[in-house]
Amino acid sequence: MHIRPAVLKDASKACDTLRRSIAELCVADHGNDKAILGQWLANKTPEVFASWLKDTGNTVLVADHNGLIAAVGVVNNDGEITCNYVSPDFRFQGVSKLLLAGLEAVSLKQGNSGTTLFSTKTAHGFYRAAGYKNGGTPFFKFGTESYPMFKRLAQNGPDIAKRS
Ligand SMILES: CC(C)(COP(=O)(O)OP(=O)(O)OC[C@H]1O[C@@H](n2cnc3c(N)ncnc32)[C@H](O)[C@@H]1OP(=O)(O)O)[C@@H](O)C(=O)NCCC(=O)NCCS
Repeated sequence: MHIRPAVLKDASKACDTLRRSIAELCVADHGNDKAILGQWLANKTPEVFASWLKDTGNTVLVADHNGLIAAVGVVNNDGEITCNYVSPDFRFQGVSKLLLAGLEAVSLKQGNSGTTLFSTKTAHGFYRAAGYKNGGTPFFKFGTESYPMFKRLAQNGPDIAKRS
């Protein structure tokens, strides 16, 4: 398993991974509600993926397993992890943990003191196990509950807890 920056030719496979991860793994969040799923999946297209790559405010990483895209993650320059989805074919094999470490390393390199994110219900326990703390009251996004979380990675820098 190799964590590397995404490139344009990953777009189609990466979107398949994103869409399957949401549809098949996040059932606790969307409850197979067509309207919620439709909203959630609407921007998971190769065109939008390409725009993430072009955006210099983002770093897009993929977990590459012999050419298969096992997971996709995005962190912005402020240390917010905006996307972290594993393929159902690679669930519970340590892939998200590896990708999360890669995203955290990017955030540190960008000069942030940690990372923030808005977790799904599905991933909340995973992030807790990875050292994330709750950073505020859950709210609704795409009709599902979203949990603000943060993790301090360095002693110096702004108070990330206030940004989550
Ligand atoms: C929950 C999920 C994120 C975990 O990813 P994964 O690649 O399957 O998990 P990993 O194999 O990397 O697990 C790493 C560690 O987290 C633990 N873990 C995984 N899911 C967990 C959970 N729900 N609660 C507690 N711990 C969990 C694992 O036991 C493992 O522990 P270890 O390092 O001590 O062995 C993933 O399975 C999933 O459902 N993703 C759906 C998409 C999603 O919700 N993404 C988040 C968007 S904010």
